[in-house]
Amino acid sequence: MLTNKRIAVIGAGHMGSALAGGMLRAKLTAPKNIVVSRRDERALAELKKQWGVGATTDNAKAAAEADVVILAVKPQVCPAVLEELSPVIKPSQLVISIMAGITTQTIGRKLGQPCPIVRAMPNTPCLVDAGATAVAAGAHAGEKDLAAAEKIFSSVGKVVALPESALDAVTGLSGTGPVYIFMVIEAMIDGGVKMGLPRDVATRLAAQTVLGSAKLVIETGKHPAILKDEVTTPGGTAINAIHMLEAKGLRSVLIDAIVTATQRSQELSRLCGD
Ligand SMILES: NC(=O)c1ccc[n+]([C@@H]2O[C@H](COP(=O)([O-])OP(=O)(O)OC[C@H]3O[C@@H](n4cnc5c(N)ncnc54)[C@H](OP(=O)(O)O)[C@@H]3O)[C@@H](O)[C@H]2O)c1
Repeated sequence: MLTNKRIAVIGAGHMGSALAGGMLRAKLTAPKNIVVSRRDERALAELKKQWGVGATTDNAKAAAEADVVILAVKPQVCPAVLEELSPVIKPSQLVISIMAGITTQTIGRKLGQPCPIVRAMPNTPCLVDAGATAVAAGAHAGEKDLAAAEKIFSSVGKVVALPESALDAVTGLSGTGPVYIFMVIEAMIDGGVKMGLPRDVATRLAAQTVLGSAKLVIETGKHPAILKDEVTTPGGTAINAIHMLEAKGLRSVLIDAIVTATQRSQELSRLCGD
């Protein structure tokens, strides 16, 4: 589907580079068909050397020659970048945006073209091919466009297709979610260290515990509450810890974090003039 398609990644930072790397590892297309752009020439030279992809500081040039244009700059620079791209984008090109909060309607309006646009919300585990991404089709995007986007994000993890109205909530849950889990892991490490474990051992145990618990949820298909109850012995350690976590509001805090991150994603759309 994407073989021989030329793909431009505009804004090859953490996420843009992760996507380019994932597409290459999955052999979705050849390095010569990928071009990445950003302003830092040294970083571009590094990407070119590492992967053999094309690299340029000229966003318009990168986009003009592509079949698929991936927008991976920060929402704050979105208006300037879309202004650069609008003279060169054609309705035959597929535009995929991973910018938090920016709607396909806004992107389409700024580009001034009825091109197919897919909005996606990946997360940083894409860097290790364990990402969680939601994709949503804009007004001019069809099944074929959504399938192409799904293929790209499948190269770096799991993908779900949703209506665009769900993407701010996805941003609050899985887009921002790694941050919550990093904080949980960090706190678990400190807890282990406080109780006398060496930090490196605590780090390995905490991270593997989170990975293994997530794997159990995914592979057993059991509700997390059931998995929790299964390991909670009457009068044991887990029920004591659960009592403390409930008293300190762990679940409420995480729910509030997702609510506020979702609201921030909704606010970001205004940065681009929604
Ligand atoms: N990080 C996450 O967890 C995450 C998750 C989901 C979605 N996102 C979305 O992904 C996008 C990128 O996030 P990120 O974390 O990858 O940020 P990042 O690492 O800062 O990457 C953004 C890149 O854009 C480049 N850039 C800035 N201005 C530019 C311009 N005028 N033209 C071309 N490139 C330009 C920057 O490089 P130079 O300074 O060299 O130009 C930078 O490398 C954001 O819109 C964010 O909402 C991020």
